[in-house]
Amino acid sequence: GKAQIGVTGLAVMGRNLARNLARNGFTVAVHNRSPERTRTLVADHGDEGTFIPGETLEEFVASLERPRAVIVMVKAGGPTDAVIDELVPLLEEGDIVIDCGNAHFADTRRREEALRAKGLHFVGTGVSGGEEGALLGPSIMPGGSKESYAKLGPMFEAISAKVDGTACCVHVGPDGAGHFVKMVHNGIEYADMQLIAEAYDLLREGLNATPAEIGEIFETWNQGDLESFLIEITAQVLKHTDAETGKGFVDIVLDQAEQKGTGRWTVQSALDLGVPITGIAEATFARSISGHADQRAAAARTFGSSVGSLEVTDREQFIEDVRAALYASKVVAYAQGFDQVIAGSEEYGWGIDPGAMATIWRGGCIIRARFLNRIREAYDADPKLPSLLVAPYFAEAVQSGVDSWRRVVSASASAGIPAPAFSSSLAYYDALRRDRLPAALIQGLRDNFGAHTYRRTDRDGSFHTQWSGDKSETPA
Ligand code: 6PG
Repeated sequence: GKAQIGVTGLAVMGRNLARNLARNGFTVAVHNRSPERTRTLVADHGDEGTFIPGETLEEFVASLERPRAVIVMVKAGGPTDAVIDELVPLLEEGDIVIDCGNAHFADTRRREEALRAKGLHFVGTGVSGGEEGALLGPSIMPGGSKESYAKLGPMFEAISAKVDGTACCVHVGPDGAGHFVKMVHNGIEYADMQLIAEAYDLLREGLNATPAEIGEIFETWNQGDLESFLIEITAQVLKHTDAETGKGFVDIVLDQAEQKGTGRWTVQSALDLGVPITGIAEATFARSISGHADQRAAAARTFGSSVGSLEVTDREQFIEDVRAALYASKVVAYAQGFDQVIAGSEEYGWGIDPGAMATIWRGGCIIRARFLNRIREAYDADPKLPSLLVAPYFAEAVQSGVDSWRRVVSASASAGIPAPAFSSSLAYYDALRRDRLPAALIQGLRDNFGAHTYRRTDRDGSFHTQWSGDKSETPA
């Protein structure tokens, strides 16, 4: 028989996706540029299902049933284009090329258009969950045509994570929609991690506790509203001891956070779309600050690196304050991320259902969390929700935590401990609910120096004031 699907690129993600498909009963063609990897996969895991190894790309393509479905799992960028270029001449009308890497959605749109012109389907697919997710059940975000999903959907849903019996996979929308939402997922992942890091830093300073003791606090938090994969592994990482030195693991890791670029893409896209994703942006810039070692050293020499006391008198209350600040800031970050999904969907005509994204992010992916159920409920109740923040459940969560949030942000500012994501999320909340913003003054300044005009609160139209003349106002 022929293979129902093929995977080319058998590094860890490709290998695990192929194994997951085979374990779920699909016949999987496998191929890798150097055939050694293909042989190893079949030798080590051949008993998990049915693999058809292809030594050459031609052999691989010939082993697939039609319409062919080929997953490309190589490095984003040039390597992906190179494989597509080799593959396309071997394919026939109606065949489907699936890119499961972390591609930029603009590249995916370009590739989709190029392949569509050749009668092929190109399905940019976000896959989240790391190595383990790929093998045991990731969250899968396929873009591309509806026709391609008719073939891929049953396979992808079968291998995806399940929550309450629902697959963590849905057809996101046409062309780049899948990679776009995966990008925003990663931006939210950055924000989640930065918020966790700030909470850890404040707890450590405020309680004068060991990393392992703070790990216990995160473990407790994981029993409540904050329950999520990232909180769970935070406890694991904080409780880990370095074998060599006997020190807490976090104390021997270089404090410079790296990134492969999806967070940066999220922020770039948000600027283009005009969506204020301040939490994700602060998280991305916080990684960037951490990496500027020379500037950090110079500033520490100039200003000293000592911090003041957080003046914790009631330890339990302080822990609860940090928890509430983390939760409220997290709500802001997700509200902003979902705003971006909605804005992207409008800009590119994708028709993305934000509630469906919350549904498929409940399991398998890095940001999987209990509270995504609440996001889905919020969009179910009101598909036109102006912001997640104002959905009753989240509004109540934020309101009940706002005193804690303010205490934490004030205390961190007084002590000189940076909490950029906590504080900018609070500023976002306060800005959104403010009656009058000082943006009116900015408009006045723009009109003064550049005749950029302004609108009035009391009547329609645009106006300009003769700033260097008699200060009379004229309609623009
Ligand atoms: C996932 C992850 C995955 C990747 C991270 C790391 O959803 O499974 O997001 O795609 O490991 O994005 O990204 P950085 O290197 O940029 O932190």
